[in-house]
Amino acid sequence: MSEYINPDYVAEPDKVNTKKGLEGSVIDTSSVSKVNADTNSLIYRGYPVQDLAESCRFEEVAYLMYQGELPNTAELAAFEKLERSYREISKSNLDVIRALPKKCHPMDSIRTAVSFLGCEDTRIWDATPATNYDKAIRLLAKIPTMIAADFRCKKGLDFIPPNPKLSLSENFFHMCFGKIPAAEVVKAFDVSLILYAEHSFNASTFTARVVTSTESDIYSATVAGIGALKGPLHGGANEQVMHMMLEIADPAKAEQWMLDSLIAKRKVMGFGHRVYKKGDSRVPTMKKYAQKMADICGQQKWMDIYNTLERVMVDKKKIYPNLDFPAGPAYYMMGFEIDFFTPVFVMARTTGWSAHIIEQAASNRIIRPLSQYIGAEQRSLKPLSERI
Ligand code: COA
Repeated sequence: MSEYINPDYVAEPDKVNTKKGLEGSVIDTSSVSKVNADTNSLIYRGYPVQDLAESCRFEEVAYLMYQGELPNTAELAAFEKLERSYREISKSNLDVIRALPKKCHPMDSIRTAVSFLGCEDTRIWDATPATNYDKAIRLLAKIPTMIAADFRCKKGLDFIPPNPKLSLSENFFHMCFGKIPAAEVVKAFDVSLILYAEHSFNASTFTARVVTSTESDIYSATVAGIGALKGPLHGGANEQVMHMMLEIADPAKAEQWMLDSLIAKRKVMGFGHRVYKKGDSRVPTMKKYAQKMADICGQQKWMDIYNTLERVMVDKKKIYPNLDFPAGPAYYMMGFEIDFFTPVFVMARTTGWSAHIIEQAASNRIIRPLSQYIGAEQRSLKPLSERI
């Protein structure tokens, strides 16, 4: 039924004045980040993302997202103190996570837990910049706790409360595994969070801005963003990349696997991008850290599969890997279950979403585009008894 097109419909392409999927459409202004496809570059508030990844911790980048400037020592200390003080979640929220079906996807769990957090907030309708900033830090602090609680619960293990003495990334490992890995592993994870933090008007951020434009609240916008991020064409791709690598399993089979996929015209997950056509600015940094993980874990085979798939795809189709391609195997080697890869992306992207939500709320007009109607012309309604 949804395929129905009015047989009398006459194509009027001029009436649709944007390309399908809004390709190339500039929707609004933003000062959060800039993707430059011509130079393969990405800046957050003016800073190149690869410089931030190498020199900063994720908490500094979160502050930059919200405040527009990098923190000095005192500002970072105050910010971290607040974030660490907000990490705990209520017993009711923990019970909600525990009550979810064990087989539900962790993206559905985190979507539900964030929704519940909104129900608990007595200031839900207060969307002043100061209150939204405070809520953004709460989301940053509590989302990792919710994801880790779900991670443990799905394995039948006890919840591990957050430790305020640890950095955000260290604490996440602590809450998931009960221990903190080597500093290089924590750094690789922190780098992934920085690279995933923000990417202009991508599908989930745009979704969050649409919800915000109706003067709805930050939790509703975040829940909507999580829903958009879950899809395999967006954040869900990092999980699909690892499923694909596990299916290939042997580096010697990777070339033929890719050639067969191209002949079958299959979408290969972790490749391609709506904006970048000559390579994703974030990939060289993440690939370097995925390689470090392979060295640390003695699992070079995933990088061998990576290199072969990349070589054949670029050679045959000139389509380049996106960030999900190195992030998938990196998370796998860190020990995360595959269906937790996209929730980790949520941990990072909550910073970008919140920055955009605050920006949208500060200069708002409801986002309400048009469509060109191609359904049935106006017709008379028949009573139920006369319908055949
Ligand atoms: N595997 C195989 N072919 C791909 C491809 C992929 N991952 N990505 C794009 N292509 C091909 C398309 O089939 C199309 O070929 P055609 O012109 O012969 O029909 C061409 O490249 C253009 O792709 P298109 O689908 O128009 O790009 P888009 O801008 O609409 O979509 C993505 C962008 C990211 C959704 C798309 O590249 C994709 O689905 N990638 C896999 C999922 C993924 O990794 N998502 C994470 C994004 S960060």
